[in-house]
Amino acid sequence: MTTLAVDLRGRDLLRIADLSATEAEAILDRAVELRAEPKQPLLAGHTLGLYFAKHSTRTRVSFSAGMAQLGGVAIPLTPEELQLSRGESLPDTARALSGYLDALAVRTHAHEELEAWAEWASIPVINALTALEHPCQALADALTIRDRIGSLDGVRVAWVGDGSNVLTSLAELGGILGFEVVAASPAGYESNSLLQATVADPREAVSGADVVVTDTWISMGQEHERARRLSDLAPYRLDDALLALASPDAFVMHCLPAHPGEEITAEVLYGPRSAIWAEAENRLHVQKALLTLLLG
Ligand code: CP
Ligand code: NVA
Repeated sequence: MTTLAVDLRGRDLLRIADLSATEAEAILDRAVELRAEPKQPLLAGHTLGLYFAKHSTRTRVSFSAGMAQLGGVAIPLTPEELQLSRGESLPDTARALSGYLDALAVRTHAHEELEAWAEWASIPVINALTALEHPCQALADALTIRDRIGSLDGVRVAWVGDGSNVLTSLAELGGILGFEVVAASPAGYESNSLLQATVADPREAVSGADVVVTDTWISMGQEHERARRLSDLAPYRLDDALLALASPDAFVMHCLPAHPGEEITAEVLYGPRSAIWAEAENRLHVQKALLTLLLG
């Protein structure tokens, strides 16, 4: 393992803005090394708690598999199983868990709750998705772009559809690593990040883009807004006609889960320009890199 000129030991990753460019690049570089040699006992004897208050396939399994590949253990913690759901406070839970675990990954609704975990836990806390940000996804996305294009510098990323937590983290990471994010979202659906340009017309965002990205129109916690979202976002569906406006070598990313026929057509999702399955696999590699750097 290359010795890196960054020291992330003991840190939290709550938002992309917690990382410098050097630190983000170090995570991507280490991810490439771990991808080449996945089973190394770098975290033997270490424990990662997975506190997930929302559904997950990729994040949960990639953190669990990643810890196993590094010689450590991941411990799933759902709110219903903890005394938390019977009234024990979050600070007391975080204090107690800090005595058993080396790090805690948290997936929850309000970003403020994640911040409370980080405040009361004495171990590194990792954002495994909140309504505000999804930094592990953005790191995997940046790695996927770098894998395909060879560099991130000056790459033009078009985002179409809902300005979700995933867009916020991607735009923030673009600001740090030098790729440009142009988002086409309807009024009222813009992301929380001010770092991306927002345009109304998806064709304007996609024209000449190197990468085209979208996300579900109905994020977890927004199920009650389903009808309005399907209607407002319908002009932003990523289909072959829209993709044809991108650069000839452009490829498509989506954090998954996808909803074919809603935000993306099946032709694009499963088509030759989809990098979506490599993107999903890269979650494993960047999270393993992050864990080795936080716990190193
Ligand atoms: N992309 C992502 O975070 O997927 P999961 O919700 O399945 O973890
Ligand atoms: N924006 C989506 C991403 C899921 C990985 C959500 O928050 O539900």
